[in-house]
Amino acid sequence: MKIKNSILVVLAILMVSSTAMAAQGDKENGKKIYEKRCVWCHSKDGTGNGPAAPFLNPPPRDFTSGMYKFKTTQFDEILPNDENIFRMIADGMPDSSMPGWKDILKEKEMWDLVAFIKTFAGLEGKPKKQIDFSKQVKSSKESIERGKKLFIDRCSECHGEEGRGDGGKKLKDDWEARTWPRNLSKPWSFRVNNDPKEIFARITAGIAGTQMPSFADPASKKKLSDEERWDVANYAASLADASKTIKEGSTVVKAKRVSGSLPEKADDPKWQEAEPTNFYLIPQIIAKERFFTPSNNSIRARAFYNDKEIAILLEWDDRTKSIPGDEKAAEVSLDGQVFEDGAAMQFPVTIPEEMEKPYFGMGDAAKPVNMWYWKSGTKDAPQAVKLLNATGFDKKEERNAAKAGLKAEGVYNKGTWRVVMKRPITTSEKDKDIQFVEGKFIPLAFAVWDGTNSEKGSKHTMTTWYWLFLKPEAGVYVYAMPVIVALLVLGGCILTARNSQKKG
Ligand code: HEC
Ligand code: HEC
Repeated sequence: MKIKNSILVVLAILMVSSTAMAAQGDKENGKKIYEKRCVWCHSKDGTGNGPAAPFLNPPPRDFTSGMYKFKTTQFDEILPNDENIFRMIADGMPDSSMPGWKDILKEKEMWDLVAFIKTFAGLEGKPKKQIDFSKQVKSSKESIERGKKLFIDRCSECHGEEGRGDGGKKLKDDWEARTWPRNLSKPWSFRVNNDPKEIFARITAGIAGTQMPSFADPASKKKLSDEERWDVANYAASLADASKTIKEGSTVVKAKRVSGSLPEKADDPKWQEAEPTNFYLIPQIIAKERFFTPSNNSIRARAFYNDKEIAILLEWDDRTKSIPGDEKAAEVSLDGQVFEDGAAMQFPVTIPEEMEKPYFGMGDAAKPVNMWYWKSGTKDAPQAVKLLNATGFDKKEERNAAKAGLKAEGVYNKGTWRVVMKRPITTSEKDKDIQFVEGKFIPLAFAVWDGTNSEKGSKHTMTTWYWLFLKPEAGVYVYAMPVIVALLVLGGCILTARNSQKKG
């Protein structure tokens, strides 16, 4: 009890001191910092229409609206806590362009900013209605079970059955921008984080300006009790899928050698035996027409190979299965227009010596690339894969995929596409197709299209160049290595000897 009390005292002191800081926030100084740091996005008049705004999705907040999305005050309380605004300024908002400022600005300067940006909407005084966190239900198997039922009933219409944001709703925020329900399996893309306490705050207050409602509002038919909201928050937090985490510095898809046949189907459980690697997808902004409003942010790859073939499995979350001609697909599209979903891999036709990555975009005249381009099909045409050779963004030649032995097949399930692409290790057109070899780092890049999000042609998401590595069986590698090293050393000696002879 004593310990608890002293913690409370420390907390109280901390709160008083930060509140004191907040109260001290100097609007005039805040204005100066704002005009230096924030206007590019939020604009001088605070409307969110800064010069960078047309290129940002989600758009920068309009401070004149007085709406703050991520607050810990009640749904019917307009004012956020100063600490809520401070936190977003200090930490930034993941998976949006809002940067964190705590490494650049002093704490006092950030409180000054809080005081200043509130003036855009004339927000004054202290908020009265706070969210009550005191009845927290600790996460447990039972709580998660209860939460799951509530989630299916209340949240899945937007967030989808397993939380990947694939409820199939067309949502717009109060400023007419398209919004996507968060993919709860990727907590690293939450604007705040997936601590059950934070999720509880989001579902209690709702997310202002968006269609994510409050589930505490007694006027709502969907109202949930305090305990129910904790249960559903515990469940939502449990949806985090650690296997989708993008590891810093992880740049290689390691293809596993097998002696038998390779899995044909994308949902073959055998794929679990191949090590997955996750990569960030970024919008394509190198070539015209540029693209700034992606709906997806990551892709995962794994690979198997044997003597004859290589198979690569691509998995990415896509909230919408985009089949042109399909009525359901058209319903989710903002303008009713739907293009095919797609995924592509790019390889250099010739594997470069050493670990150089000279390629940018789609290769150049000296360094052509192969593109394996899978498309999800239309209502009348089945899915298909194309083989293209490119020597630049607008220099593409379509080749015969069947002749090269390239095959692809995809399945869509609950917000995730899984596509297997397969090709023989070597082909007959050696000067036109990449010939895969063991033990070399082979440049590889990915691209993804979400057809319900107007993604077509050059408008898509992509990765930078990474590597594919066909991992030789340990035995072979261990034996081969000393020989290679010996040859290199020997080669080096001969060269040095020749050089010194020449000089002499
Ligand atoms: C590169 C663009 C960019 C810059 C620069 C920028 N912001 Fe933001 N900011 C955004 C975007 C985008 C959002 C909305 C993100 C969302 O809704 O998910 C945002 C949202 C916010 C929010 C809203 C938090 C909430 O809960 O609703 C605050 C507060 C904020 N920014 C403050 C600032 C301040 C202060 C600065 C300058 C120190 C700044 N921003 C600079 C892009 C930017
Ligand atoms: C009518 C659609 C809708 C419903 C119903 C809905 N959400 Fe959301 N949710 C959204 C949208 C849209 C966003 C993204 C808002 C934004 O950041 O602009 C979102 C965002 C979130 C976030 C992200 C918070 C963060 O830090 O980024 C969480 C967590 C969440 N919702 C949980 C839930 C739970 C749990 C339920 C059910 C109790 C629920 N939502 C019901 C539409 C909905």
